[in-house]
Amino acid sequence: MADPFKLDLTQRPRRLRRTASLRALTEETVLRPANFIAPLFVIEGKGRPEAIASMPGVSRLNIGDLVKECRALSKLGVPAVALFPKIEAKLKDDDGTVALHEDGLILRAVRAVKKAVPEMTVMTDIALDPYTTHGHDGVLNAARNDVENDRTVGILMRMAVLHARAGVDLVAPSDMMDGRVGAIRKGLDATGFTETGIMAYSAKFASAYYGPFRDAVGSASAAGTNLLSKATYQLGPGNRRAALIESTLDAAEGADIVMIKPAGPYLDIIREVRMSTRKPVAAYQVSGEYAQIHAAAKLGWLDLARCRHESLLAIKRAGADMILTYFAKEMAAELK
Ligand code: PBG
Repeated sequence: MADPFKLDLTQRPRRLRRTASLRALTEETVLRPANFIAPLFVIEGKGRPEAIASMPGVSRLNIGDLVKECRALSKLGVPAVALFPKIEAKLKDDDGTVALHEDGLILRAVRAVKKAVPEMTVMTDIALDPYTTHGHDGVLNAARNDVENDRTVGILMRMAVLHARAGVDLVAPSDMMDGRVGAIRKGLDATGFTETGIMAYSAKFASAYYGPFRDAVGSASAAGTNLLSKATYQLGPGNRRAALIESTLDAAEGADIVMIKPAGPYLDIIREVRMSTRKPVAAYQVSGEYAQIHAAAKLGWLDLARCRHESLLAIKRAGADMILTYFAKEMAAELK
């Protein structure tokens, strides 16, 4: 006997999900290798790659290996890398002075990559945390034991000019000081680097998801904890409007690209920033987002490849034009 139950429906959205080809035709968001920016960690010397325990598959590389990695990424269609130095503890001081050394590690790394793989877009972080003994992104005001805004901005501006001279395509201020994008733009223009762009970490939240990164660059051991509070400069995780104020200011001060960070836990912010600006929007899937997928996969609780793909698809769907992710290389290989 036939089942008598039948709905009288005109709309049956499942029609378009019936076959693989119909699903392909109606796919709204697609990832491609050119969407990704690979963050890479660089170390001094000629030693072997140093594994980072909390970031499986990610290592700190010497400059020679870094160049090889950039070549491999370029072959896979990844258009950009973001370079982070791990500075030797003995070179750090309270003011992060070594950030302004004319022949610093990061500057040599940039020159080597741009020389060997000129088509690769290279960006560098502009902030003092890899260089300071305390791990903060700027210099401290002793009286208030807080990061001092304007003096930090002056240093960051000089740092950006050094990086531009070394050949970076984009400088990426990640410090969250007030007025730094405008100051960096002025500094770059005054020294003739009118073509060096700025990707601003605009909505950067004071997040617990940065823990593994702080292990990677050694800012955690410097500070004695990877839970160092940056709450006086990074955004409060509950603050939507503050994120829009920051991204609007950065765009007005001359940011070419505005970024939201972390990405996955802040998809609503990505969407709102996307709707509030016409500039390209970037999102940073940070170390903790990467680590949690790996940890669950290791326990057999999540499927690594599928979660990797879905987490990035969600970030793009929310409105990111480009994504900084430690999965960049594997994703590009998978998509190719
Ligand atoms: C520091 C900086 C951080 C990250 C990028 N640049 C950490 C921090 O603010 O403490 C985090 C990246 C990640 O977690 O993957 N200026």
